[in-house]
Amino acid sequence: MGKKKLQHFAENKTFQHYFEASFSDISEQGSPMAGRWNDSFFCNNGKLVVEIGCGKGEYTIGQAKRFLENNYIGVDIKGARIWRGAKTIQEENLKNAAFIRSQAGLLHLWFAESEVDEIWITFPDPQPGSRKNKRLTSPRYLSMFKKFLKPEGVVHLKTDSRELFEYTNEMISENNLQVVNRVDDIYGTLTDGPLCEIRTFYENMWLAEGKVISYVAFQIDKLN
Ligand SMILES: C[S@@+](CC[C@H](N)C(=O)[O-])C[C@H]1O[C@@H](n2cnc3c(N)ncnc32)[C@H](O)[C@@H]1O
Repeated sequence: MGKKKLQHFAENKTFQHYFEASFSDISEQGSPMAGRWNDSFFCNNGKLVVEIGCGKGEYTIGQAKRFLENNYIGVDIKGARIWRGAKTIQEENLKNAAFIRSQAGLLHLWFAESEVDEIWITFPDPQPGSRKNKRLTSPRYLSMFKKFLKPEGVVHLKTDSRELFEYTNEMISENNLQVVNRVDDIYGTLTDGPLCEIRTFYENMWLAEGKVISYVAFQIDKLN
């Protein structure tokens, strides 16, 4: 492993707003943070918004700066990517943002039932072809997310992948889920607002290639 990566991993552990745990530490009782994010960490009653597969954290940080009344937590499995966002929190002294290094499928150990108001899934790996149940918008993952999302909570997906966007809309329709908003071509439709003004690392790459970026927001309370 590269020296820089090791330095970033070590620095992550010094940030008060960075969390990670081994599976054996949280598998039985969950993280001690579960159910306590607002009371013990953010110390306010703001909405709790979680970005899954946040990469370097541009969307988490962008939203946290824009909506100071809410609390934002970015989650990714790759600590070296999260480091960038965690470092920005420190440099800019942001009080309403944090990062967790975790597998998406373990998030029910990090959050209590109905603790989270919104989930953002930004430019997830599309998992093409037959790997459908690895998609973060598959019923398998959404059923896990339902454990900690409020019943009226919303899942937001931003993607460049036609296949993933169509798959997600079919999944919404097959499960009779409520669509809250849908924009098939964000940059061909909107000229301002957070949806087109906060851009992630991958989003900027896909935009430079001329790809269409799509968005759908939906509720998952009716999912079995
Ligand atoms: C294509 S990148 C997008 C990153 C960022 N959202 C962006 O738009 O720049 C997908 C990210 O999801 C993370 N990821 C993929 N599967 C994951 C999982 N099961 N749990 C947590 N993170 C995951 C990867 O490590 C990667 O950083």
